[in-house]
Amino acid sequence: MNYRLNNNNIDVLFRTKPYAELSYFGKRLQNIQLEQLEMLNPAVPNARIDVDVPFTLCPEEGLGNFSTPGLEGHRNGKDWSPVFITKEVIQTENQITIISEDNIANLRFTSDFILDDSGVLQCQNSLTNLGDEPYQVNRLSITLPLPERAQELMAFSGRWIKEFFPHRTKIEHCGYLQENRRGRTSHEYFPGMIVGTNSFKEQSGEVWGVHLGWSGNHRIQVAVKSNGKRFIQAEALYMAGEITLAKDESISTPWMYATYSDHGLNQMSQQFHEFLRGNIIKFSQNKPRPVHLNTWEGIFFDHNPDYIMQMATKAAHMGVERFIIDDGWFGKRDDDYQGLGDWYLDKRKYPNGLEPVIKHVKDLGMEFGIWVEPEMINKNSDLYRAHPDWLLELHGYNQPEGRHQYLLDLQNPAVFEYLLERLTWLLGSYDIDYIKWDMNREIVQAGHNGNPAIVGQTEALYHLIDILQEKFPHVEIESCSSGGGRIDYEILKRTQRFWTSDSNDALDRQIIQRGMSYFFPPEVMGAHIGGALCHTTFRELHMNLRGLTALFGHMGVELDPVKESEKEQKAFAHYINLHKQLRPLLHSGNSVRLDVDDPNAMQSYGVISKDQKEAAFIIAQLALPTYALSGNLRLTGLLSDKQYQIEILDMPDNIDPKVNGHAMKVLPLWMQTKTILSGDWLMNIGLPLPVLDPATAMLIKITSK
Ligand code: DGJ
Repeated sequence: MNYRLNNNNIDVLFRTKPYAELSYFGKRLQNIQLEQLEMLNPAVPNARIDVDVPFTLCPEEGLGNFSTPGLEGHRNGKDWSPVFITKEVIQTENQITIISEDNIANLRFTSDFILDDSGVLQCQNSLTNLGDEPYQVNRLSITLPLPERAQELMAFSGRWIKEFFPHRTKIEHCGYLQENRRGRTSHEYFPGMIVGTNSFKEQSGEVWGVHLGWSGNHRIQVAVKSNGKRFIQAEALYMAGEITLAKDESISTPWMYATYSDHGLNQMSQQFHEFLRGNIIKFSQNKPRPVHLNTWEGIFFDHNPDYIMQMATKAAHMGVERFIIDDGWFGKRDDDYQGLGDWYLDKRKYPNGLEPVIKHVKDLGMEFGIWVEPEMINKNSDLYRAHPDWLLELHGYNQPEGRHQYLLDLQNPAVFEYLLERLTWLLGSYDIDYIKWDMNREIVQAGHNGNPAIVGQTEALYHLIDILQEKFPHVEIESCSSGGGRIDYEILKRTQRFWTSDSNDALDRQIIQRGMSYFFPPEVMGAHIGGALCHTTFRELHMNLRGLTALFGHMGVELDPVKESEKEQKAFAHYINLHKQLRPLLHSGNSVRLDVDDPNAMQSYGVISKDQKEAAFIIAQLALPTYALSGNLRLTGLLSDKQYQIEILDMPDNIDPKVNGHAMKVLPLWMQTKTILSGDWLMNIGLPLPVLDPATAMLIKITSK
């Protein structure tokens, strides 16, 4: 029997007898007959296995498959090469479950697929041990076949303060493998990849995008087989001996999210964004996302309630709507050598309690947020002195410290109870609207009772947050992990926002935020204006670029407003105000990245309202233009036959030739006069770009007449 899931854009076809295969995942087909899927049977070349080897949902060695199998495991050395035969298929409207079994190895393999209206296919595989003896699982993955024309790959790599940097490569012979073994989602390898036809772009080409929603270790590979067929395979990466199934016990892969676009990367991203907005992001749609001030880069560990209240007053005057106290309020946390784990208010710093600060913040009309890092412990803490055995570790070894701290073993019930009690105290005792949940080290020798524990630790973390969300549903949570070390769909199910990066350097942020935008919409992307001197790169950047870069996310400021000059404070207020004006559009519309002619020196992106009547675009000049002129900016996503008025909302203060411009004698005409042009013009001819200095930006608004 053959099966089909589809929506307006996408089709997914399955063959299930005797083996289950995903036969097609791509553009919606209008005129096909499902029973003709047998026509996919290919030639059988010489000098190989004598039959066509089906590429099943769990590619099996036992069928003659020589690529990485979907499952690797054994029962004390036996049952290591299972072959699954379809037993049952259950289809409801947009969902299909395929159950296959191997009666010799005594294993059941279940695949679930759900196709959302947005065009995102959710896939999960599960393995059940039907035998009496335990079954050791080394690997369990989700495999999605790709057509031979998918020849180019885009993946993301990075590090602290440089997350989501994309790189591209051809995929041929063997393929491309990414492994994250850092214990958290990681800055290094975002668990997502995009494959497509040669030279796919933002607005053109066929692409298949895949994300694994998992906050632990992972492996993703795009493999090319020697018959030219190719596939993408994603999984949670297990340590040796990490997963053993007792009789009737099951394990599931994380959910993998996949989508297809025949209009380039923009459509792919819009489908992911739509899916997240409809299914994963829990945020009251009626409430605007409040503008933040986070104290970290302003005062670091130096907490003085009177001073913090002065900061709050200034923040409120600038238009800030949520004030967050970062690290330093608890234990004896005077620096990062101590205090983690001691989740009690530091009475030395707050002799009158936190209440006066919270009251002050609330009286100013702002929400109040606070920082925590529950999974961690410093050895210099009361908690460690009382419970040295609560560490996530392998006894007898000396694992290295990371930021002078260690992990707590969340699978230890005493640890879990302690954290739940302390967080319940914090959220129950104070009027807190928001927590920034941080996680600042990579995991080494994650041992729970001597066994590997990354999977268990990750699931215990999810469980802890789930309980807290149930107890305190009004409290929003930000997922932070030294900036962007824990950004994925599974943690987003239980958080509302990401701290995208510890870098507030607007030039780097341009790349980081663009990279993140392939999978996430602007409203979950924490983006703050930092001080003029960026504390992570020591680069000094102009307010114009800092302001406009933060504008296209969930905006905030990250500095000490008391120390900022009147001029800077006015500038913060200006960009906060601009953000508030555009926020309804930015946080609900379709995001696009534009293909520009000089991509190494400039980038441009924007958001278009769903009804295509308004849009905002940023033109960010990252480096000196290659040529004297940068070509025309061709927009996208507008209605061809509509007339649009073009308005400049912000530009560098040295651009006007009449005042002090030095790069241009004359501005492009559309910048000098009120201009109305058709969507057709804007999308196909475009707007002649001005000559911008490096590290400056412009913001334009397009409104239909
Ligand atoms: C790392 C985070 O990414 C920062 O924003 C800040 O919260 C510090 N930790 C505090 O220790």
